[in-house]
Amino acid sequence: MNVLGHSVKADHFLGNSIAFNFHNLQTTLEDSRSTQVPVHVIAGLRDTWVSLDAVKLALESISSECKTLYLLDQSMHRLEENPKDLSAAFQHLVEQTHRSLLPSVPLAFQSPSLREVVTQRRIEKDRMRLHMDKRTEDEREFWRSYLSDFTLIRQVEDYQQLASDVVEMIGPSAGPMILLDAGCGSGNLAFFFLSGRRPLSLYVGIDFVHDALLTAANTTKTLEPNNRLSGEAASGSYTFIQGNLDTPLPLRSGTADQIVCNLVLSYLNDPLDLLREFVRVLKPKGRMVISTLKPMADCSQIYRNFAEKARSHEQVDQARKLLNNAGGIAAKETHGLYRFFSQLEMEALIEASGAVPLSSRISFGNQAILIAAVKA
Ligand SMILES: C[S@@+](CC[C@H](N)C(=O)[O-])C[C@H]1O[C@@H](n2cnc3c(N)ncnc32)[C@H](O)[C@@H]1O
Repeated sequence: MNVLGHSVKADHFLGNSIAFNFHNLQTTLEDSRSTQVPVHVIAGLRDTWVSLDAVKLALESISSECKTLYLLDQSMHRLEENPKDLSAAFQHLVEQTHRSLLPSVPLAFQSPSLREVVTQRRIEKDRMRLHMDKRTEDEREFWRSYLSDFTLIRQVEDYQQLASDVVEMIGPSAGPMILLDAGCGSGNLAFFFLSGRRPLSLYVGIDFVHDALLTAANTTKTLEPNNRLSGEAASGSYTFIQGNLDTPLPLRSGTADQIVCNLVLSYLNDPLDLLREFVRVLKPKGRMVISTLKPMADCSQIYRNFAEKARSHEQVDQARKLLNNAGGIAAKETHGLYRFFSQLEMEALIEASGAVPLSSRISFGNQAILIAAVKA
């Protein structure tokens, strides 16, 4: 069973939860009552998984004299999602632990600079990646399964916001033009671009998952499914091409007016190589909009908002699958297979590719960074 991207032996897991009594708050409270050591609890007020009332109850039951509750008003379940709060939480823990263990010794607290933290994180991720085997076939299968549930995301408000930010940042089209959607998946953005509002002479979607391209083509043309990857839509022609973005793009230099690459860059072997390819195929003054999840993103609130609006059991089930898929991506990030970028890192990458960053935005429920850039 897939639980937040991890394969869990459900019988074993649920059986043990009940056998060893960690399946309800009551047993947590009993454990708390027998806790004698100092306890410092940190809770995020935007945590979608654990309620503050439950945290307070557990803390009240702790019999230890020394206990504190430290609340982080902007934090979600994944503390790392918010580096500022994460650093404050660590500082709190160190101070409290020091106070209870060495009350008479003054604390000389020194925290590393953000630059040192980012560099160290990068070194550790690179080291982990050396031990991981990232094979194209496995990746393609991961995304095939992921994308089979991904068209539903079009109904998620935060995704709609992200898509409209991409469309807005790429700018108005000055007459018919060629737009490349790199890593188009099952055509979620094609849906926004080809629905008739902007004239296009050609929309080109590239992805390495063939099934997803068929879904994209079939929903785009709103004709009967006929397994063809090219056709006409309200605002222009379109074609979907199966291709691996870890290899050179199948387009001639200087042919594209605009390029969008939504939530894709972080999954490639060499993101900078792909950005350089974008610069190669863009016409002079051509624009691109690139988005990425931010490092240690927490998508739980996005999917929860969606699940709360779900009308049927089927929709709740699909929201759960979306969340499990997001968990699968987070697990790969933890193992160093995927790399998500901060705004500064994205800007540095874009500059290194030869393009000029124009503007940036935070979107997708505060979990994604978008950058618009131009080919000089
Ligand atoms: C999170 S999805 C985003 C899909 C789409 N851009 C959207 O907004 O719905 C990531 C996409 O990247 C594609 N992808 C990942 N690695 C790829 C590669 N090496 N070559 C081509 N596509 C790739 C996946 O197949 C998937 O469609």
